[in-house]
Amino acid sequence: MKAIAIVPGKAGAKLVERAEPALGAPDEIKVRIIRVGICGTDREEVSGGRAAAPDGQHDLVIGHEMCGQVIEVGSAVTRAKNGDHAVFTVRRGCGECFSCLTSRSDMCQTGKYRERGIKGLDGYQTEYVVDKERHVIVVPADLAAVAVLIEPLSIVEKAIDDAIRLQSTRCPEPAITPAWLSGRRCLVAGLGPVGLLAAMALVLRGADVYGLDVLDAASARPKWLTGIGGHYVDGRQVPADQVHDTVGAMDVILDASGIAALEFNLLDALALNGVYVVTGIPGGDRPLQVQGAELIRRLVMSNQVMFGSVNAARGHFEMAAQDLARGHRRWGSQLGALITRHHRPSQFAEAFGDRPSDSIKEVIEW
Ligand code: BGC
Repeated sequence: MKAIAIVPGKAGAKLVERAEPALGAPDEIKVRIIRVGICGTDREEVSGGRAAAPDGQHDLVIGHEMCGQVIEVGSAVTRAKNGDHAVFTVRRGCGECFSCLTSRSDMCQTGKYRERGIKGLDGYQTEYVVDKERHVIVVPADLAAVAVLIEPLSIVEKAIDDAIRLQSTRCPEPAITPAWLSGRRCLVAGLGPVGLLAAMALVLRGADVYGLDVLDAASARPKWLTGIGGHYVDGRQVPADQVHDTVGAMDVILDASGIAALEFNLLDALALNGVYVVTGIPGGDRPLQVQGAELIRRLVMSNQVMFGSVNAARGHFEMAAQDLARGHRRWGSQLGALITRHHRPSQFAEAFGDRPSDSIKEVIEW
């Protein structure tokens, strides 16, 4: 079968041949891949950045945002059956720490976890994959066209859920629940697929959502945001350090930009007692000057929390599938408009190359 692979540390991707995987245990599921999304991590891997091949292998099949159809299940499998649409999670535990032993490898304590398509395990940019039942999420057939968005959405589900949990342990308001977000002012920075999906999850929870980027308001991503009821903030007119005075203080900030300078500057926009979650992973090592003392002073004097969030557990994938279904009911085909380009596997060079400015999520159709 065909697969798209990279050699970690080297720029470029190639189409390779791999042996088709077969079930090896009663709790395994074989899936025919339908489509696989491309995100910033994939682009970084293809440009020679962060990635690791499986032990004893020099190349790595990339891809971690997948959806497919179950074609074979082991005798012990109860969660999925042939014909189901399915998504596999990304991270596989280290097998040593409490988090990994309790199905929370997203919070691995040793750092020895592996991630399909990123770190130590082949990914999903291929025709068939086999994995354990415990890593699968079965998706309703009417979501099949957008199920490839479940993985990026799972990242923001975790970030938002943890932000609410943090606030509920810190703030005296009684009974902070997910409904706490209702009417709260939330800023999402970086309107790529993760940022737009974060905006959607926040709008679904009743938040007043602002999205910051440096794009023309009439272009696809700001329009998608306003189409679901968010407000667009053009960072070229309102720089991060003026958001507070121009647009107002934000109870919650979710960064999906991966731009370190912006990630720091946005602290300026955070309200008293606010929570700020960073999901964007900056590439490269460009030096950055930070007003360290001012930043720490503000965090302390304003009771603020800033935390990072990476990866997602099965539960977050399930929350993502539920939110995708709610979004689908509320906005219909608008959800599908997030997927702007479909490529064939042989067009991988174009798929990983420069993108038109109106592109949102690009996928490979297998
Ligand atoms: C993926 C996560 C992964 C992270 C770090 C992201 O692009 O969506 O699943 O944990 O990269 O490797």
